[in-house]
Amino acid sequence: MVLMSPVENRLINPASNSDEAVEPGIRPRTLAELIGQDHVKENLSILIEAARQRAESLDHVLFYGPPGLGKTTLAHVLSNEMGVQIRVTSGPAIERAGDLAAILTNLKAGDILFIDEIHRLGKAVEEVLYPAMEDFALDIVIGKGPSAKSIRLNLPHFTVIGATTRPAMVSAPLRARFGAVYRLEYYDQPAMEAIVKRATGLFQVEAQPLGISEIARRARGTPRVALRLLRRVRDFAQVRANGLIDNQVAADALDLLRVDYLGLDDLDRRVLLTIIEKYHGGPVGLNTIAASISEEQDTIMDVVEPYLLQLGFLSRTPQGRVATERAYSHLGIHYQTTQQQPGLFNREDN
Ligand SMILES: Nc1ncnc2c1ncn2[C@@H]1O[C@H](COP(=O)(O)OP(=O)(O)O)[C@@H](O)[C@H]1O
Ligand SMILES: [Mg+2]
Repeated sequence: MVLMSPVENRLINPASNSDEAVEPGIRPRTLAELIGQDHVKENLSILIEAARQRAESLDHVLFYGPPGLGKTTLAHVLSNEMGVQIRVTSGPAIERAGDLAAILTNLKAGDILFIDEIHRLGKAVEEVLYPAMEDFALDIVIGKGPSAKSIRLNLPHFTVIGATTRPAMVSAPLRARFGAVYRLEYYDQPAMEAIVKRATGLFQVEAQPLGISEIARRARGTPRVALRLLRRVRDFAQVRANGLIDNQVAADALDLLRVDYLGLDDLDRRVLLTIIEKYHGGPVGLNTIAASISEEQDTIMDVVEPYLLQLGFLSRTPQGRVATERAYSHLGIHYQTTQQQPGLFNREDN
């Protein structure tokens, strides 16, 4: 029996991309097709143009940001725009230095090596990657002990594209080897609407502008979540309505999925309620929260927290996480904190 953790079942879990294979046309293939992230796009277009003009391989690029914002998509877009092959792997998949060496020696000039979750590369593997990225060289040690010899193998000029949700866990020497580092931001409402609209075309589903904006608004600024919600709303519209996604159908479908009007789902609410009800609003450590709700610390950190921080529902202090007054009011809980109250004479509220 395969036990599914609640996270894998989570409707808005942006970390899971299991159903991307179902609609292959959904991934934008060119920079022009890509919606939003204007700042990143503009920088990338310069990077591409410059490399093309010099007939060189693209500089190494690192993308970071919460899951579902387009890091993998961008890597593929870069390979399309440059007209080069992309080889896809990930930090945890490269177990030994030898695995990486095998990948590197198979690359051709200009190729892209996409390393997802690059913060999870092992130390020994990283050591191989440094000279490969910097000097396009592979140092191979032959033999053991005092008679061991190191020989240097030249590699073709290739490009590493790294992606991570945890930039702080990328070691400084590795990060220093990327010529370009871009942070992906949550998408704003107009961009989200454009993404949902584009997808309705690809899914061949009929939707009214207000239905589209309702889905967009509840997708927590994350394209992957928007696509997932659209699929579920499409089902609902088909079964419970006449197939047309209007405002009401979208709202009803999303309510039924327990995704609220800000895009919070049960897990988000559980995290907030735990901080508020069990720990008087905080501060409380992340590990304590995770243990209280039997959830992975990583999931809370990668998926739940960034969005709650963005909404201003959560703040991070050296002592731990604190639920803000906004979080209380969103959940309809009276705000009273047992943390040090401001003195009677230095009240700064209002
Ligand atoms: N800018 C965008 N415009 C349209 N669709 C996007 C955009 N960014 C991401 N997507 C879609 O969202 C989904 C998740 O993107 P992905 O690149 O896998 O995210 P990440 O690698 O950051 O987790 C993909 O299906 C992709 O098609
Ligand atoms: Mg990805």
